[in-house]
Amino acid sequence: MPQPQLEVRWAETFDSFGSLSEPHFRALSQLIEAQVGIKLPPAKRFMLEGRLQKRVRALGLSSIGEYVDALFHEDQFEDELVHLIDVVTTNKTDFFREPAHFDFLRHTAIPELMKLRGGAGRVHGLKLWSAAASTGMEAYTMAIVLDDMVRSGLRAEFRILGTDISNPVLRMAQKAIYDIEALTPVPEPLAKRYFLRSRDPSRAECRVVPELRSRVNFQRMNLMDATYPVDRDVDVIFCRNVLIYFDKPTQRKVVTRLCSHLRPGGFLLVGHSESMVQSIVPGLKQVRPTIFTV
Ligand SMILES: C[S@@+](CC[C@H](N)C(=O)[O-])C[C@H]1O[C@@H](n2cnc3c(N)ncnc32)[C@H](O)[C@@H]1O
Repeated sequence: MPQPQLEVRWAETFDSFGSLSEPHFRALSQLIEAQVGIKLPPAKRFMLEGRLQKRVRALGLSSIGEYVDALFHEDQFEDELVHLIDVVTTNKTDFFREPAHFDFLRHTAIPELMKLRGGAGRVHGLKLWSAAASTGMEAYTMAIVLDDMVRSGLRAEFRILGTDISNPVLRMAQKAIYDIEALTPVPEPLAKRYFLRSRDPSRAECRVVPELRSRVNFQRMNLMDATYPVDRDVDVIFCRNVLIYFDKPTQRKVVTRLCSHLRPGGFLLVGHSESMVQSIVPGLKQVRPTIFTV
């Protein structure tokens, strides 16, 4: 009966080229959880398979199986971990995402920190940190709000740090070039002041103005690391829409470490679906459902 045999062979070939086997999925999800803290439930197997197929093709390998074997056995695949992390992370972000946080920054956090930092005098070095910065929109939104406050009389200088684990998004953040549609949530006067539009009409792009770019630095950092190479007197930390991927013990460790980098009276802001951190990190004082102080 040649037909069934052929079918079996065809299926085997298809399998060997295209799919992510259950044991390989388990091995990869353990590796990813250990390295990045991101849990991949079994339902994510097909998402991972689809994304890995692209990576396997880009590397000129013949199958996902070959990719996984190389990842675990070849030394030079150390560097591949960075790409694997890019394959599994979600980088969705926006300017002025969760706008209430930026209202809080403008109307509550900065005025309170200014009082703590010296009343009427000029404050040097307000430090803000976007701790899962993605393509930089969060960090630049912080910079827009702060610069706008300075223009309205805030007597302070500020610096913004953006960190993320993913190299491609950090490169985009450094370039600060975005599709013009990304400006939709930015209030018109701020969009005009802080973005340059491409003169080439075929490129619907804009770029953050150099004066703002010079206030923001980006560097690679894994929130899973035991220590963070960041000052311990940060005024405001945004760590939004990343904790949700971690399990509870990891969330506890990350939030505790982040808080150890805040100055007394500083603020930590998490994503709207991440307010549960309060129940797992003792000593965190809640100001609003997603806003904490130490
Ligand atoms: C959904 S984006 C959130 C971006 C931004 N904070 C916001 O809310 O718009 C999540 C980001 O977290 C980053 N990320 C994931 N795991 C990380 C880790 N272990 N350390 C640092 N960054 C991580 C991803 O690369 C991604 O850019």
